[in-house]
Amino acid sequence: ETVEWEAASYDMGGHDTYMHKEISEQADAVDRVLRGRIDDKFSTVHLGGLNLDAREARGIRRVKILGCGTSYHAGMIGAGLIEGMARIPADAEPASEFRYRNPVVDPDTLYIAVSQSGETYDVLAAVQELKRKGARVLGVVNVVGSAIAREADGGVYVHAGPEVCVVSTKCFTNTVVAFALLALHLGRIRDLSVADGKRIIEGLRRLPDQISEILKLEDEIKELAAEYAGAKSMMFIGRVRGYPVALEASLKLKEISYIHAEAYPASELKHGPLALIEPALPTVAIVPNDSLLEKNRAALEEIKARSGRILAVAHQEQEKADHTIVVPKNEDELDPILMGIPLQLFAYHTALAMGRDIDKPRNLAKSVTVE
Ligand code: AGP
Repeated sequence: ETVEWEAASYDMGGHDTYMHKEISEQADAVDRVLRGRIDDKFSTVHLGGLNLDAREARGIRRVKILGCGTSYHAGMIGAGLIEGMARIPADAEPASEFRYRNPVVDPDTLYIAVSQSGETYDVLAAVQELKRKGARVLGVVNVVGSAIAREADGGVYVHAGPEVCVVSTKCFTNTVVAFALLALHLGRIRDLSVADGKRIIEGLRRLPDQISEILKLEDEIKELAAEYAGAKSMMFIGRVRGYPVALEASLKLKEISYIHAEAYPASELKHGPLALIEPALPTVAIVPNDSLLEKNRAALEEIKARSGRILAVAHQEQEKADHTIVVPKNEDELDPILMGIPLQLFAYHTALAMGRDIDKPRNLAKSVTVE
């Protein structure tokens, strides 16, 4: 399974930065990760390089996902997708932590290493240690033929195309879609119904157009970013599926604007971070229209009661928020894929308003191939 990356992909194609180019390419990138993989007859997907037969897939007792930075955040959403669709207990952990805590390696656990570059040293070292102990390790990797892709027993290529900007955007989105495909595949081998399989497939097919719709909000997001660019610090909150979206959005803002940002599960606010809330500390809240909507709204009320400014990313206007970026609704499981995208643009325009070097943020490298 190979994809040709033409030299033209490294051209900025009329954009001022690679980051902007890469954010703009996401509808096509998602189209690419879906292409040729959907099986409508059985409401499932085929993943050519997985090297995991149905009997083996049914024997998995647990899934452990390992990655760093943005790939770790994508892995957190991936764990939720696998647990939700395949009903296998799943969680994600930073690969850098995992490899130093002498973890118990269990033969019934499927390990999944996630990496854009496929060269991140902490992830590679975790994979090598796992392999040495006889574990089965899959890769969810963007760069074809990279070290992690070669070490893994099989996996799913993310097909985001070359990502040049140091901060990851389109690869994050495609990695989460790749996890949705893997979750659907495992789910349909296990207990996910044909009807649910079909529902997810239809949702996946809606993603590229919905991404294009979100990208049309850029002017509105640019104006918002200009308002928030003066903040010293920002809070990002979300619940369950929304929490990794909050984490990733806060990382994006930190990396390119150098504004301090914290991400918390909305449910944890009352256990401490509520003490920080005041007019000078704006909150970005992920508020999907799902079973947790009322809970999320209650968090907005808590913040408003302390005069905190709120920017919501939601499926409808939020009364308690000062601004709402309204995004299209998909299936609940797939909403996190879309809700992060406006916040990539938000980080981008905040950093731009502050005159930052967006493609090459200080102190960071695209891939961290050393310890
Ligand atoms: C992304 O915005 C970051 N610069 C960084 O966290 C990155 O995701 C991390 O270093 C992992 O890289 P990888 O996906 O190539 O393994």
